[in-house]
Amino acid sequence: MTMNSYHTLYEAIGGETTVRRIVEAFYPRVQAHPLIGPLFPEDITPVMEKQYLFLTQFFGGPTLYSDQNGHPMMRARHLPFPINKERADAWLSCMQGALKEIGLNEELQAIVLERLSGPAYHFINTGEEEI
Ligand code: HEM
Repeated sequence: MTMNSYHTLYEAIGGETTVRRIVEAFYPRVQAHPLIGPLFPEDITPVMEKQYLFLTQFFGGPTLYSDQNGHPMMRARHLPFPINKERADAWLSCMQGALKEIGLNEELQAIVLERLSGPAYHFINTGEEEI
């Protein structure tokens, strides 16, 4: 399976089922990660649901996140949390592990990671000395 015959990345990866599986594989890794786990609330379920809505939209599926929450303003929503390069890398490595775990086609894994690395580094809002 490649991107070629699909209109959106959302369709190419397998739509709703795959986005759910990504989110379910991703957050246990995030919670277990020493650099980023402590930033998240103990009850991760609401975060998982929002991420499901957001990634659906971000990958080109239905605009579920904006329909419920208005403009994503994702960088602004991350400002309360000190995010440095190491934390952005940690987030992306959890995502990489999740994509591998669910067995997504390798070409698609690379595309998904590439698309997410832009926002991840864009959300950096502090140098490590401030953390
Ligand atoms: C760069 C490293 C990142 C860190 C350390 C990080 C951390 C966090 C934290 C701590 C929250 C708040 C959890 C809560 O208390 O509700 C959050 C929310 C969220 N993050 Fe990230 N995040 C990162 C990157 C990303 C990326 C790359 C995306 C997607 C492109 C993303 C999407 C979201 C979404 C959709 C939410 C929920 C927003 C809402 O409340 O509506 N995050 N993130």
